[in-house]
Amino acid sequence: MTFGAGDIYKVEYEFSDEVAVHTRNTSIILGVSDQVYEIYRGGRVAHSDELVTSGSVEAGEELPLAYSAFGGHMHHAALRVTYHDHSLSTELVYESHRVERIDSNREQTSITLKERLKPFWVTLHYLAYEQEDVIEQWVEIRHEEEGEVTLHEYPSAEVSFANITDDYYLTSFYGLWERESSVQEERLAMGKKVIETRYGTWSSFDYNPSFILGIGGPVNEDHGEVLAGALAWSGAWRMSFDHGFGKLSHDVRERRQLSITAGVNPFAAEYHLKPEENFETPRMILTYSLEGKGVASRNLHRWARRYGLRDGEKVRPVLLNSWEGAYFDFDEAKLVSMMDGVVEMGGEMFVLDDGWFGNGEHARNAANAGLGDWQVNRDKLPRGLDYLVDAAQDRGLKFGLWVEPEMVNRQSDLFVQHPEWVIQQPDRYNMLYRNQLTLDLSNPEVCEFVYESVASILREHPRIAYVKWDCNRSFTNIGSSYLTAENQTHLWKDYVEGLYGVYRRLEKNFPEVMLQVCASGGGRIDFGALRHHHEFWASDNTDALQRIFIQWGIGHIYPAQACAAHVSMCPNHQTGRTLPLKFRFDVAMSARMGLELNPVDMDADELGFVTSAVADYKRIRTVVQHGDLYRLLSPYDGDFTAIMYQLDGVAVVFVYKIAHHLGQLMPTLQLKGLDEGGRYQLSELNQIDKQSHCSDIDRLYTGGVLMHKGLRVQLVSEFDSAVFLLECVAS
Ligand code: GLA
Repeated sequence: MTFGAGDIYKVEYEFSDEVAVHTRNTSIILGVSDQVYEIYRGGRVAHSDELVTSGSVEAGEELPLAYSAFGGHMHHAALRVTYHDHSLSTELVYESHRVERIDSNREQTSITLKERLKPFWVTLHYLAYEQEDVIEQWVEIRHEEEGEVTLHEYPSAEVSFANITDDYYLTSFYGLWERESSVQEERLAMGKKVIETRYGTWSSFDYNPSFILGIGGPVNEDHGEVLAGALAWSGAWRMSFDHGFGKLSHDVRERRQLSITAGVNPFAAEYHLKPEENFETPRMILTYSLEGKGVASRNLHRWARRYGLRDGEKVRPVLLNSWEGAYFDFDEAKLVSMMDGVVEMGGEMFVLDDGWFGNGEHARNAANAGLGDWQVNRDKLPRGLDYLVDAAQDRGLKFGLWVEPEMVNRQSDLFVQHPEWVIQQPDRYNMLYRNQLTLDLSNPEVCEFVYESVASILREHPRIAYVKWDCNRSFTNIGSSYLTAENQTHLWKDYVEGLYGVYRRLEKNFPEVMLQVCASGGGRIDFGALRHHHEFWASDNTDALQRIFIQWGIGHIYPAQACAAHVSMCPNHQTGRTLPLKFRFDVAMSARMGLELNPVDMDADELGFVTSAVADYKRIRTVVQHGDLYRLLSPYDGDFTAIMYQLDGVAVVFVYKIAHHLGQLMPTLQLKGLDEGGRYQLSELNQIDKQSHCSDIDRLYTGGVLMHKGLRVQLVSEFDSAVFLLECVAS
């Protein structure tokens, strides 16, 4: 088919072929002419003829390229390259494409584009996950020039919407240490909106590498078209949302274009690509929803449980992590007594946090020494790790251990032996951050050390079941004594690739060991890290009120199963706030619940409550960890907030009162995702003295009544909360 040209620029789209990427409910249609254009992205359609007749592609309209490159008439473009002869122009023309069916759920479409004049190729990959409505996009770049080609900007994907609407709303997740993933939404004005991080080791403090885009209106929970995306990358990244009139500036016809590019942050990160070398970008995980962000989140969660995190089909254990209960101050007796407490509470794993390694003057008794010396501290733990692993095993607990192997303290044997292994610039003062420096993982020798630091522990103590992998520092004084002078800008990408190589080896050689990604709390919450981990530590902030907001934000993209949420003591160590123990549990129970305290600090009543709360959590954890999330009331919109999970006819509802005003009415809670005609038995969990928060408890309701009329819940005082269980007894 032919689309006519505008009067000013004669652009003809003579499509010789069409490439369609489908999932169950969505499609991308690409038109192949000389170049490759994205004709359509949205709800499922069969092919482009249907689009033309439905008016989505108008004759003469300017179509966006599937992956634009700087050069020719293109001023704004995704890819920007300088060739070996210093020329700047790239025009990517269609060369070939292939479609590969991986299994009944996955199909990969790869389109190879070639520079019109030069031996330079870009392959666009689209991996479609049929059932989950997720499409992964990324590119591979290679060339056969005489010498190196410099890649200046090389995003994983470009997604453009042309002439659909001028009304786009961007939800992004901003934050900082201990306040990760705050939700904000803004209408995209004309111009460019950029979200990014430039830390190098952390992907998700300033912003999480993800977004939700409302197309044609603000993002709504249950209605409207939405594109959600997350970059699978654990280093510096950038996403830009370029809202303008499109690529040709002298064409005055009515038009509007939004182009989104996402990938490794190109800031100070030019990459010199050798001939024949393959350059692969990280993957952009995308889902399109016709029914609001609720569906988009559920698509991403389902995809993550099946493909995006390790062992997504397994239920996570209830663990106690020693950090807030002991910090650096422990000995064998204290740790064993903590284990006794875990057992009494019904926990299943004990994790020993920081402070167990380094010896002599490099003993890890504070954050100033020991990082890099991954040998057990003989003063604190004279009988070594095996004594603790045995003690855990004797009590029926699994044992986990904290490490931070990408880092080094100046006070360490490692730094004395290998000062050249840190990221630094010669002759410049290298600022310490938390008293430590970052090792240079662009160097394979350093990667070997990092791998061996952890692998040797796991080999020597094969019953260690869990590793908490921390990372408490970013890059400063960007410089590598391993990389050549010209290739210093490679550090950003090569560091993360080095880290992923270490993770891959650990996963292969220790497949049974669970891994938690922690980066000062929520500094590395991204699908790049999650591929190699079972879960993430959501935040160093364990204040349950703050956690409601943090977990609310994170849950837009990442599944609850991976979101570690621990109950800690009050006054809270980060905020000083005191909250009811029940409230703290009810918040942690809505994700992967654990404990972050010393059980001896609790009195008998508290211990009794904890024991029954842990038992209740075990009853519902399959639903929380494997179920579909429905957001009911946003904490940003009022004094009450609620979410629910639903799995195979069982639902769990969490509701919290976060501010108290006299005379205030709690909205009736209209549930979601239930079987309209199903009959559900309602009960309440985690009660104190059997007090109920619903006057009509322990009776049957139909799904229709629960969803349309709703549930009347009474939360009386500030920080009152309730957990309801709904079990479908008849459909
Ligand atoms: C970081 C982590 C914490 C804890 C400490 C230990 O801050 O986020 O959970 O492990 O390090 O030093």
